[in-house]
Amino acid sequence: MVQRETWATRTGFILAAVGSAVGLGNIWRFPFIAADGGGAAFLVVYLLFVAFIGFPAILVEFVVGRRTERNPVGALLELGGDVWKYVGGLFIVTGFVILSYYSVIAGWFIRYFLEGLRGSYVGRLAAYGEAGAMFGEVSTGLDALVLHTLFMAVTIGVVALGIRRGIEFATKAMVPSIVLLLVGLAVWASTLPNAGAGYEYYLSPDFGVILENWQELLPAAAGQAFFTLSLGMGVMITYASYLGEDRNLTRDAATIIGFDTGIAILTGLVVFPVITSAGIEPAAPGPNVIFISMTEAFANVTGGHLLGLVFFGTVVIAALSSAISLLEVVTAYVIDEKGVERWKAAIGMGGVVYLLGVPVTYDLVFLSLLDGFADGILLVFGALVLMLLVGWITPKFAVEELSKGIGDLGSIGQAWIWAIRVPIIIVLVVSLYLGVVEYVEFLTGDFTAWIEANL
Ligand code: PFF
Repeated sequence: MVQRETWATRTGFILAAVGSAVGLGNIWRFPFIAADGGGAAFLVVYLLFVAFIGFPAILVEFVVGRRTERNPVGALLELGGDVWKYVGGLFIVTGFVILSYYSVIAGWFIRYFLEGLRGSYVGRLAAYGEAGAMFGEVSTGLDALVLHTLFMAVTIGVVALGIRRGIEFATKAMVPSIVLLLVGLAVWASTLPNAGAGYEYYLSPDFGVILENWQELLPAAAGQAFFTLSLGMGVMITYASYLGEDRNLTRDAATIIGFDTGIAILTGLVVFPVITSAGIEPAAPGPNVIFISMTEAFANVTGGHLLGLVFFGTVVIAALSSAISLLEVVTAYVIDEKGVERWKAAIGMGGVVYLLGVPVTYDLVFLSLLDGFADGILLVFGALVLMLLVGWITPKFAVEELSKGIGDLGSIGQAWIWAIRVPIIIVLVVSLYLGVVEYVEFLTGDFTAWIEANL
């Protein structure tokens, strides 16, 4: 049997895990999901979810990975027995679904980068008419397909080369540059006329709205929290499986969550003031909001041309490090369980993912179809079953594993297990139920209407 690879440097793991977490979820998905959920009302529920469910959940994936030293399917098989391997199989399916549309969106960011190479963002906006029309033109069609192809090809290439050479180096420069850029843009956005309306929408929660809309807010926050932290499909299991026993997992979890949440909040601090000052209603945008607000921003700030290139370029790298983690799960499974060579596994699996993403470049209804399924259902279900396994079936090993690299946990270990066993599982069951209801509504409503109109 081949010797299992481990992280080349001590920081390699944390860099790769942050690289996986920070991506389009923070920059592209967070602002429009937040806007859709009422801004501040969503933000509150989301932050609570990250702290009280995301944090325990990331620890669950870490202990499962480090203990078993296997890919998610093998890990669950080892811990739970035969039936559990099907749950692991579900993780692989989730990886397929998410990466397929993720790559198309990453392609849009490449496109905006390339637009900046063609000329200034003021000039590009003028060429397309305005920001909405520009997005409409670049988001579907042959160009989108070509860039989806390019992005998947690069992702496959990095994964085929192996974790050490591939993943660790890609992440190092990305996080600091993205934080610096977002801070700078947030300061600039604060000087815009009518920025106040954006902050009002984003930052001042109306608790009445939360109580009234909790049935939409809960599944939206659950999906976003798991998506952005790369939880519920075994990425963190896979990464922790290459990890030594001396790491303090709680500290690593806090670092990852801190960076990830910070970057999402910062993105909101740029997007909301920019859109209200451009006269756009903050409650109604869609998956185009980051592109609209950022091109507006780069068309109007001094040095916007260069900043825009750096921004779009950095997001592409952030997306790449997340995409790598998605393909890594799928690939690690085939390598470990089927004994296929790494490069063959990466190309084969990546190829299937690529094909699944193609319809999204044809019509954005397929984005809702895939994203709604992965986020509203698959990730929440994945997290839920992991919690059931660790909370009720193998709690002893979990506490023991968590304490390695930390020392005696005292009652904290038990508190963690009990939080998982009852309250967290209840919240996840409710979120999952609501997510399924919403997805069925989409299928029978918007999606059916689309099919009738187009076929
Ligand atoms: N966390 C990534 C992001 O926020 O862009 C996306 C992602 C990666 C989701 C890996 C799920 C995953 F397993």
